[in-house]
Amino acid sequence: MCGIVGYAGGRKAAEIIYEGLLRLEYRGYDSAGIAVLKDGKISAVKRQGRVCALGGYIKDMDGKLGIGHTRWATHGSPSDINAHPHSAGKFTIVHNGIIENYSQLKAEYFDGEKFTSETDSEVVVRLLDKFYDGDITRALFKVASLLNGSYAVAAVCTDFDGVAVIKNKSPVIIGYGNDGNFIASDAPALAGFCGEISFLKDGDCALVTRGGVSIFDSAMQGVLRERVKNSATNASLDLNGCPHYMLKEIREVPASVVNTCNAYSSAEEKLKSVVSGCDRVIIVGCGTAYNSGLIAKRYIEKFARIPAEAEIAGEFRYNRPVVTPTTAVIAVSQSGETADTLEAAKLAYSLGAKVVAVTNAPYSQLTRCAHAVVPVVAGHEICVAATKSYTGQIAALYLIAHTLAGRDIGEATQKLFKISRLCESAIETEGIDSLAHMCARSVGTYFLGRDLDYAVAVEGSLKLREISYIAGGGYPAGELKHGTLALVDENVVAVVIITDKRLADKSMNAVEQVLARGGKVAVISNIAETEKELQGRAQLIKIPDCDENLSPLVSAVAVQLLAYKTAVLLNRDPDKPRNLAKSVTVE
Ligand code: AGP
Repeated sequence: MCGIVGYAGGRKAAEIIYEGLLRLEYRGYDSAGIAVLKDGKISAVKRQGRVCALGGYIKDMDGKLGIGHTRWATHGSPSDINAHPHSAGKFTIVHNGIIENYSQLKAEYFDGEKFTSETDSEVVVRLLDKFYDGDITRALFKVASLLNGSYAVAAVCTDFDGVAVIKNKSPVIIGYGNDGNFIASDAPALAGFCGEISFLKDGDCALVTRGGVSIFDSAMQGVLRERVKNSATNASLDLNGCPHYMLKEIREVPASVVNTCNAYSSAEEKLKSVVSGCDRVIIVGCGTAYNSGLIAKRYIEKFARIPAEAEIAGEFRYNRPVVTPTTAVIAVSQSGETADTLEAAKLAYSLGAKVVAVTNAPYSQLTRCAHAVVPVVAGHEICVAATKSYTGQIAALYLIAHTLAGRDIGEATQKLFKISRLCESAIETEGIDSLAHMCARSVGTYFLGRDLDYAVAVEGSLKLREISYIAGGGYPAGELKHGTLALVDENVVAVVIITDKRLADKSMNAVEQVLARGGKVAVISNIAETEKELQGRAQLIKIPDCDENLSPLVSAVAVQLLAYKTAVLLNRDPDKPRNLAKSVTVE
């Protein structure tokens, strides 16, 4: 949520920062700004809108060090004034996070003074200016000691030939380049600029200059943070001929399944020892990650016969959860940064549960709140809507369920390899275009299913709502008649997922109930009998026949494509849906 970039080196800073911000836009895209320092003077530009709104100003911004920001508004509407950077005296800053006590700080230190913006961030730069005594590091630590909340604050000061940064909860990486050094919220910003990066810890402050990087821990002692290879490369940012990242990433679903399987062995032994003796499992996550938890619950109960429940992380953390040392809490998060999921994991840890992180971000904060980490290897996911990370999560959770069951994962892995090939053919599924037209014309599209198909229905609905802005929901097919059926008319579409032979007849009841009331129905299925029964009365999307436990991987591709195509028909930007951002680092 919000992306920051900083650079100090031998090249034109504004150009490098602009490029970095474009790559971080998935973190927020309602306004953007850049500040550069040259000859002791700071020049800044900030504009409401996407990063490209800054494009025309870059050529006039000279200076070899600076900072930039792409915003997802928390305090104050998206506007030129509220856009970052913010300045006071010798300082200019960009901020990612929320300062929870900003109004108290304003009242205590700046009573009666007029602030320029409505942001929480402005108080930080004013405090820096107030406490600055010639030592930037000391000023940053002093200000940080006053702040409650989450922050990655990058600052330039007219007295200092570099960029200073301090962080708590919000992520900051340091990049080591050939011609200068960097800071950024996430690795893709530095792809092609830095082969090596390191991750700051909470409380760390870093001074980044052209000549080097100095890092201080929260005790203000100099420290070294491990340098690792930057996994983001120019190739990971390439659209590979696709018009949008979402389509490119759906095409990478098969690879996410295979790569996640291949990485599982590195985590298996540790996982076994951590979950040994656990008699209950709670899977926590938000959005799509929670939806993969709905699938995991079913896998774990089915294979391991251990009671399992999926809980939304933001609910779990506030409902005084009952956990014991024999409870395993599996925290699922693509980014490993989601505030609610992190807090849920920390809470579970503090209550004595065994915490397992399932994440696509190997160095993320979530990995530091867990006893064991199971990697999802989906590669960098740029589109705000999660696609390949969801299927990677399902693959990882399927294997975890086998480990919990005490089974060898060899056979399960082979099944996943096989299904990855079916996912590949599902990308070519016919009929999705015409269903997308139907959904695009609807006033509401509802997804129905039973058991695993229900879990995918919930995800399919989220995906469609998120990027096409069509109202809807995902419901158990049996629940239809308990309320949702009232919504059905000729302007509403019901998408029913049927891949479970055992429950196909029951799910067909829902199809009949909608048809009987003049509603429009589409069925996503791989069951021959379903096709016969439909007799052309509803649109049928045929997906490949497969192992019924793994059908969510195949039907996920179908619902992701449906959402994508519907959004494109409606002229929505599927990569950057309105009001959203990818990494939700605030509550
Ligand atoms: C999915 O399409 C969404 N963008 C969103 O629900 C996302 O899955 C959620 O915010 C959780 O993110 P995380 O996996 O990074 O924790």
